[in-house]
Amino acid sequence: MARIAALMIMGGSVANRARLTLEVTEAVTKVWGAARVGIRFSPGGVFNDMHDSNPLETFSYMLHELNRFHLAYAHVIVSTEDDLRHRAVSVPLAALRQAFHGPLIVANGFNLETATRIVTESLADAVAFGRLFLANPDLPERFRLNAPLNSPDESDLLWRSGKGLHGLSGASSPTGSRIGEPRPWPGTRSNCWRKDAFARKSRKC
Ligand SMILES: Cc1cc2nc3c(=O)[nH]c(=O)nc-3n(C[C@H](O)[C@H](O)[C@H](O)COP(=O)(O)O)c2cc1C
Repeated sequence: MARIAALMIMGGSVANRARLTLEVTEAVTKVWGAARVGIRFSPGGVFNDMHDSNPLETFSYMLHELNRFHLAYAHVIVSTEDDLRHRAVSVPLAALRQAFHGPLIVANGFNLETATRIVTESLADAVAFGRLFLANPDLPERFRLNAPLNSPDESDLLWRSGKGLHGLSGASSPTGSRIGEPRPWPGTRSNCWRKDAFARKSRKC
């Protein structure tokens, strides 16, 4: 019975399918204030076999309904050509942009050229970079100087002991900073970055 009741209020119509997200957003913004809350969607995603049956309808509706909260931003993962080849769904960014009136961030597979284009065309306010940032901790500086970029090593994007933060070598970057040695988090001791994850956790570095 409880499952049927849940399906009746959370499933079926687009309004019902958006209900959980909107209620959570309401609760969170009440605690933190809307200016400190952003939301992230992967409308076309099929990761772990999760997908939406009508992503254009669902996410346009959701983003439209989110306007009333005046969130700090909405962040949308767009589907790349490669994602589409792997069964992801294409959801026109222009439709999502039209639905949401606050700051819109997009991500997934962008480079300087495509990011510049999408912002210039007002399809987004900002572009987030993931893998390129991991491979190039001084990415904004490299973009500014039009300097060459390290290619992300897809097999080794996270910490690998002995190879340095993010698996980078620590070689000098063309911008003069040391790759793989970004500034420490506030409150941590700087040499902690050179130690392994366990040492950093236990503050023995
Ligand atoms: C190592 C790694 C871990 C990630 N983990 C998450 C995650 O836990 N949750 C999430 O929403 N996205 C995650 N992402 C996706 C990124 O947030 C981002 O959407 C993705 O890297 C696409 O941008 P990019 O092409 O600039 O890398 C991860 C990406 C990488 C490379």
